[in-house]
Amino acid sequence: MGAGARRSAAGRFTAHRADGSSGVSPRVKCCVRALKRSCSPVCVAVFIFMSFLGVCLLYLPDRPAVPSFEPDEDSPVTLLIWTHPFGRYRKLPDCAALHQIRGCTLTDDLGAYQKADAVIIHHREVATGAAELPPEPRPSAQKWIWMNYESPTHTPRLWRFEGVFNLTLTYRIDSDIALPYGYLLPRGNTVKGPQNRFTHPLHIPSRSNLRRPRLLAWVVSNWSESHYRVAVYHQLRRYIDVDVFGRAGQPLPEYTGDDVVRLVRRYQFYLSLENSQHTDYITEKLWNAVLAGAVPVVLGPSRKNYERFLPPEAFIHVDDFPTVRGLARYLLKLRHNPAKLRKHLDWRGRYSLHQPPFWSEHYCTACRAVRRNRGRTDVVKYLTPWFYS
Ligand SMILES: *[C@@H]1O[C@H](CO)[C@@H](O)[C@H](O)[C@H]1NC(C)=O
Ligand SMILES: *[C@@H]1O[C@H](CO)[C@@H](O)[C@H](O)[C@H]1NC(C)=O
Repeated sequence: MGAGARRSAAGRFTAHRADGSSGVSPRVKCCVRALKRSCSPVCVAVFIFMSFLGVCLLYLPDRPAVPSFEPDEDSPVTLLIWTHPFGRYRKLPDCAALHQIRGCTLTDDLGAYQKADAVIIHHREVATGAAELPPEPRPSAQKWIWMNYESPTHTPRLWRFEGVFNLTLTYRIDSDIALPYGYLLPRGNTVKGPQNRFTHPLHIPSRSNLRRPRLLAWVVSNWSESHYRVAVYHQLRRYIDVDVFGRAGQPLPEYTGDDVVRLVRRYQFYLSLENSQHTDYITEKLWNAVLAGAVPVVLGPSRKNYERFLPPEAFIHVDDFPTVRGLARYLLKLRHNPAKLRKHLDWRGRYSLHQPPFWSEHYCTACRAVRRNRGRTDVVKYLTPWFYS
């Protein structure tokens, strides 16, 4: 995985909390302490020096930047979109106008293969045989980018692609090119300009808006008794009213214009239950609730994992309670205790929410990453174990 992409991603998604993920590792400090007890000051000094050297080497760029001039920020990049995801044609975006990323030529013309700096390959089509991989041998220096926004559970035949790709583009924070379904930006850092179309300041509800007309909603399109989330729902509705919408429930009411966010604005709580539980797999189900000002009740990866994306009080995790009954009780209690409810909403004033539009921001972000990785060789050797980890 490209260390550069990882570093910048970590900075971005942990921006709202002091994560302490950088600097000298605690392991080194701990070793120093252990050594002090067992050997002379000279030995300790030598050890500290060697560790320091080690740490420096660790943080060196993977490859020294040959003649040290900055890569031209706007140097042209041609990015070939190998298939439109799920076979649905979308007009390709103008990266400069939409995302302030200049110098990108996006094309879906397969004839541009030989001259493309990189090819974005969406997993589904090449995994199901709807499309073939591009022909080998590939042009030297060309990057193949693996793009996937499904969880591992819904990512078939992954093992076929070991050592095939050069970069990963997924919702995972440790992807080479990381772009989650949504993320928070501390207020004040919000990028000015048209980018704001996809960035929404969040608001603390006024006293009169705190209590909402309806209690708890769930919009679900893929209902499967094998999903853990359906088991949770079956239990939950024994204790509390849940309004179920979507293909598996009532149709969305007329006034919503098919917009889930508009529906959720009438609700105090929203069930943001992912179809499967995997690292960083946190989808629009969470972010739609946040945007609508409802308190999300989440089921997905661990609470710790959610806390990489949101303040701890911003959501209620199904695992916070030993039983679903306990969860139901807590929601009912909040409903009648505005001061407690407010604790789950007051964080909002400090953030804006950014939801990258599919797939324009993904393409444009990839284009920028390709420019930054120019001249490097990257191979994604262990795609399956990484993606399942
Ligand atoms: C719906 O869930 C089933 C069971 O997990 C899964 O096999 C199927 O791929 C899912 N469909 C979609 C559209 O996600
Ligand atoms: C891309 O990956 C292929 C297959 O592993 C590898 O042979 C090639 O050197 C890589 N190219 C770049 C530019 O990283």
